[in-house]
Amino acid sequence: MQYTKIVGGNGLEGEVPISGSKNACLPIIAATLLTHETCILHNVPDLTDTSHMLEIIRYLGSKVQRLEKNSWSITAQQVNYQAPRESAGRLRASVCLMGALLGRKKQAIVPIPGGCNLGARPIDLHLRAFETMGVTIKMQEEQVYLSAKNLRGTTLSMEGPRGSTVTGTANLIMAAVLAEGITTIQQASKEPEIGDLCHFLVQMGTKIHGIGTETLTIEGVDTLYGTEFTIQPDRMEAGTFIILGLLCGNSIAVTGTQRIFLQSALCGLFDAIPHMGEYCHWENDTLHVSHAEKMPPFSIQTRPYPGFPTDLQPQITVLASQIVGTSYICDTIFPERFAHVTEFKKFGMHIEQRTGAIYVHGRTKLQGTSVQAMDLRAGGALYLAGLTAHGETTIRGVEYVDRGYEHFETKLRALGATIERMEA
Ligand code: EPU
Repeated sequence: MQYTKIVGGNGLEGEVPISGSKNACLPIIAATLLTHETCILHNVPDLTDTSHMLEIIRYLGSKVQRLEKNSWSITAQQVNYQAPRESAGRLRASVCLMGALLGRKKQAIVPIPGGCNLGARPIDLHLRAFETMGVTIKMQEEQVYLSAKNLRGTTLSMEGPRGSTVTGTANLIMAAVLAEGITTIQQASKEPEIGDLCHFLVQMGTKIHGIGTETLTIEGVDTLYGTEFTIQPDRMEAGTFIILGLLCGNSIAVTGTQRIFLQSALCGLFDAIPHMGEYCHWENDTLHVSHAEKMPPFSIQTRPYPGFPTDLQPQITVLASQIVGTSYICDTIFPERFAHVTEFKKFGMHIEQRTGAIYVHGRTKLQGTSVQAMDLRAGGALYLAGLTAHGETTIRGVEYVDRGYEHFETKLRALGATIERMEA
């Protein structure tokens, strides 16, 4: 059992290079199953989630070779269609295996996906989409059995009660690229990670129109080809470090992304926080972030892109605790994504909970404490709180953070953080 010790309260400064995007990379690894030729992926982040996904496609028959630290060669010459129950069940993105295997094999057996416990995470929109393409589906012992005589193009919306589904959109795209006829996806997810998947598939020979918009039109083709592709930077990692800079940065330089990309990919964050520009400035493609001395309280509702991302909701809550006044944070996508509030209160934060929302009364002086991470992004936010708090903080459940932040503690140490990973 591992845990991390942090001594907080110091100003941090230095450079932090942003790694490749977990949520762009995972569906793209699944999409390599759609061709028997070799795909080469660069800027693949070194995470437990990506290792799991690579293990799963290796189990399915792909030849997976590491070329360099963040570069992999993947060749799915022969592919079987039954995903390994144990590891696929642990990873939310394993749901994307359904679309890829249906596209390649017209059948798939995939466990009900796992992933961070953010409240209800149904896959009804995914399954409904496949059914409209002629897929028959049955569920048995936590496994989903999907098969189709032939996969035909369809027209449907991927909008759910809480906005468009990201992996649902990815799934339908991957099932459609080798289907007969044309598929039109209305209310498609416009997340930048879906854009990366589409660009990857276009390089493989797919015909997709409307990339980046809410209407995608996909013309099914007979064959897809190998290609070489670089995964986009991880905007959620960048957002986490930007918020860290606003909390305790003497001056943190966020590098490894392009200004034009990050301004667009994180517009939800930049637009939501008042006076952000007073504490962030660009020098070419480096974003310099400093401590937000006087920031007014804010009111935020998480929304699908281009709204404020739910994956930065716990992190922005820590910032709200350091702002004089009352901020309001509502998660419209995962209304139950507030398990971290009990842990935040141990630092001394003053938070009132409502259904699907919280009021954060600042400014409170945070004291180091002992806390438990419950999911990836809340785990990252506990590090931000520990670095802001005075005294020592112990964080258990740090394995969650290893799922989605590459070399997180190394990057924090490079900024001057006093932080140590321990074995219990
Ligand atoms: N939903 C349905 N039915 C479905 C699918 C989704 O009702 O069939 C609902 C969900 O319950 C939720 C909303 O739609 O209320 C959005 O869920 P979505 O399907 O978009 O989430 P996801 O695809 O399961 C991805 C990311 C999450 C991120 C969400 C929202 C990956 C691997 N995961 O999850 O990332 O929070 O989109 O943007 O892409 C993270 O990286 O920490 C993380 C949780």
